[in-house]
Amino acid sequence: MSLDIPVLRNELSQHYDLTPNPELAESMSDIYQSMSRVVSPVDWVLYAPYVKAINELKAKRNAVILGHNYMTPEIYHGISDFVGDSLQLAIKATEVEADVIVQCGVHFMAETSKILSPSKTVLIPDMEAGCSLAESITAEGVEEMRRRYPGAPVVTYVNTTAEVKAASDICCTSSNAAQIVGAMESDTVIMTPDQYLAQNVARDVPHKKVVWWEGSCIVHEQYSAQDLRDFREWNPGTRLIAHPECPPDVVAEADFSGSTSGILKYVTEEKPEKALLITECSMASNIADELPEVEFVGPCNMCPFMKKITLEKVLWSLHSMEGQVEVEPVMAAKARHAVQAMIDLSRKLGI
Ligand code: 13P
Ligand code: SF4
Repeated sequence: MSLDIPVLRNELSQHYDLTPNPELAESMSDIYQSMSRVVSPVDWVLYAPYVKAINELKAKRNAVILGHNYMTPEIYHGISDFVGDSLQLAIKATEVEADVIVQCGVHFMAETSKILSPSKTVLIPDMEAGCSLAESITAEGVEEMRRRYPGAPVVTYVNTTAEVKAASDICCTSSNAAQIVGAMESDTVIMTPDQYLAQNVARDVPHKKVVWWEGSCIVHEQYSAQDLRDFREWNPGTRLIAHPECPPDVVAEADFSGSTSGILKYVTEEKPEKALLITECSMASNIADELPEVEFVGPCNMCPFMKKITLEKVLWSLHSMEGQVEVEPVMAAKARHAVQAMIDLSRKLGI
C-alpha cells in the first residue's frame, strides 16, 4: 500500500471516523493541554480523530507506542505510551509486555527493539525513516577499522543497522558514550560511525585514544561555531544547549551538551529564561508546554527521516500490521550481545 498521505487518508476513512470534529477535540482537551503552546487549536481539531482511533486500536492490538523525543508533538503527547532518548527506548523495549511495539522513531530504533524483543511484533510506520549515520557504515567498514587498529574494541553508536551492531563489541548512545568508552580496557577505542560524537567523547575521556569512522548526522552537522557566536551576540542571555552529534567546536561554544534526555533534564532543572536547543526542531516543541517559563528560540533543524512518521502512517501500520521489522536470527543474536552489553554496563555504571 502506498504511504502517500492523501491515499492513506482516503483508505483509513473507510474504517474510522476521521472527520475533523470540534466537539471531539474539546472532549480530548486533557491531551491537548500538553501541546497547546505549539499546536494550534485548528490543527488539534484535525489530529484528534486520529489520536482517538490510534489509542483505541492500540488497546485492541495490545500494542505500545515508543516515541522518540524528535517526534512531532501530536505523536509525542497524543499517542506515545513511552517517550525518551535512544537509550531509554531501548531499555523500555526490554520491559514492555505488549504483543506489538510501534516504534515512532527511525528504522534503527525499531530494529533495536526487535533485536531485544524477538518474540514481539515490531512495526515501523514508514520503512523509509532512515538515518544518515546508519547509512554511513556497513559491517565491512567495521572490519576495516579493526584491521587498521588491531585489538581495539569497537564501540558502535545505536544509530546503525543490525549488521553493524553484530560486527561490534558493544553499543553506546549519546547518553552513555563517554562512560562506555572510558570503561573499555584497551587504550585505543574505535568509535563508529559518528565522527563528531567520537571527537566529543575523546575530549571527555582524555586517557583514551579514540579513533573514529567518518559518518555524521545531517541534522547536527549543519550547525557551525560561528552560528552560535553570532546568536549569542544578537540574543544575549540565551542558554545554548547542543546535542553531542554536533561538531566539537559547536559543542565547545555551547553552555551544555547532552543527549535528548540530558537536554530535557538540563532545561527542566535550570529553567533558563531563553533557550536555544541546537538539535532537531521537535525537541523544543515537545517540552514547551511543561516549561512555560522558558522561551525556546530558534533556529532549529528538521530531521527528514523522523518527520516521515505521521499520525496517518501510525494508524495505517496498526490497522494493516504492515511495516513489520525482521532481523535474521543469527545476526540478531550477535547484535543483541552488543546492545545488551551496553545496557548492562550502563546499569553497572549507574547511568
Ligand atoms: P538521543 O535521543 O539518544 O540523544 O539521540 C538522538 C538522535 O539523533 C536519534 O536519532
Ligand atoms: Fe539520524 Fe540525525 Fe535524524 Fe537522528 S537526527 S535520525 S542521527 S539523521
